[in-house]
Amino acid sequence: MRAVREPPLRNTSGMPRRRRLRPTMPHTSPPTLFFRHAAQLITLAGPPVPRRGAALGELGIILKGGLLTQGETILRVGCTRALERQALRLRAEAVDCQGRVVMPGFVDSHTHLIFAGSRVNDYELRLRGKTYEEIAQAGGGIQSSAQRVRKAGVLALAQQARKFLDQFAAHGTTTIEVKSGYGLDIAQELNILRAIRALQADSPLELVPTLLALHALPASFRGRSRQYVDQVIERLVPLAAGAGVAPGISPARTEPSTTSGRASGFSPAHAALKCGATMPKNPPPERLAEFIDCFCDRGAFSVEDCHRVLEAGRRFGLVPRIHAEQLSRTGAARLGIELEAASADHLDKLSAADIRALAGSNVVATLLPGANFHLGLKLYPPARPLIAAGAAVALATDFNPGTSPTLNMQFILSLACTQMGMTPAETIAASTINGACALRRADRLGSLEAGKQADLIMLDVDDYREIPYYFAVNHCVMTVKRGRIVYAR
Ligand code: NIG
Ligand code: FE
Repeated sequence: MRAVREPPLRNTSGMPRRRRLRPTMPHTSPPTLFFRHAAQLITLAGPPVPRRGAALGELGIILKGGLLTQGETILRVGCTRALERQALRLRAEAVDCQGRVVMPGFVDSHTHLIFAGSRVNDYELRLRGKTYEEIAQAGGGIQSSAQRVRKAGVLALAQQARKFLDQFAAHGTTTIEVKSGYGLDIAQELNILRAIRALQADSPLELVPTLLALHALPASFRGRSRQYVDQVIERLVPLAAGAGVAPGISPARTEPSTTSGRASGFSPAHAALKCGATMPKNPPPERLAEFIDCFCDRGAFSVEDCHRVLEAGRRFGLVPRIHAEQLSRTGAARLGIELEAASADHLDKLSAADIRALAGSNVVATLLPGANFHLGLKLYPPARPLIAAGAAVALATDFNPGTSPTLNMQFILSLACTQMGMTPAETIAASTINGACALRRADRLGSLEAGKQADLIMLDVDDYREIPYYFAVNHCVMTVKRGRIVYAR
């Protein structure tokens, strides 16, 4: 073996000593790595489809496991002993896991990473008795985050988020969905999507951008929600999808569109093409989002509004996902099923029939117990009935300044166990392979199998159940993304 990468040091208390490795530079090719002596190598091997029912608890554990990477890819997994010869032949760098747990990196499929400042004022108001909805109605909540975003600008937004991304990596997250949504007008929403794109170039993690097209009605549109939704459909959605705009519509305008009566067959892409047919002044618009999301709830947007916007997104190739049944039951989960959404998220207020409908669909039911915890709610989403019915259940942080300011997926696993009755094994599958399914990346992410991307983490426990059990601490000692060590201590 060419080099032996030293394992994290242990001091006398048995806890690893802090020691940050420099991330491997992305312009060099990743080293060939041999992870050896994992007490449990959690593979989650199986077809790249959501794990449902009993299969959600099957982790495909290899005891005394080993894993070989080559470039950005997993070459082989198996018992450490069985891999030794090949590792030698390949002159792999050995990483001694010292009897710890190795598993796929967390796939956090629901975050609102890009915001400015925090909402500690709302937090304290809630602790003094106000509810989330009361604070929102009084101009706090999402509106106050939007005001801060407007003042911040792309650079400051990206800088704040960059720090959080480092912490996501340190807590074992290797892929993260990121929503816009605190812009509340076209220019600001596009700025947020641009900040996400800038971060992607600068971060070792994989960012999956979502246009959160309807989040809150801006104060300037009070009583005119139809006009706001029209503007989102006619201008924001095409721009975020990289389809350009119709002639005469300026991307920077933030006032209501005068074109709200335009026929639904309107094709901004086609119009932009015609517009730039001779000598385009500006480069062609870029696709800034992959998914489109709406907050469909009491006090937010109606099923009808969300239907129109998500349909518009689909016409431009954006895949729908939806904030559904969080504060009240509106029928949003059904809408997600109808539109073949990648996921329906929150789902606190599902009816029994909704649960059956979700179970019969390909929509991933993404549960976000961090929001319930932070809002101090007694009730949590119905994980057990969903699993029993055969729904595809995923877990995510919902990292956002209003309802869930945590980026620690390990704590989400603890909440899912103690508050929703999931087993530790179920929480691991829900936060890896099923999260990858929610982001339509299960062919590449979410399990440790030959041919898949080398996204894995090492945790300082020798039994995976200790991850949720020793709660509210960070067990992650190493994070590997695309075959590179991006965090170690
Ligand atoms: O997922 N539900 C809507 N959006 C966020 C909260 C946004 C906020 O309060 O800032 C959520 O919980
Ligand atoms: Fe959310």
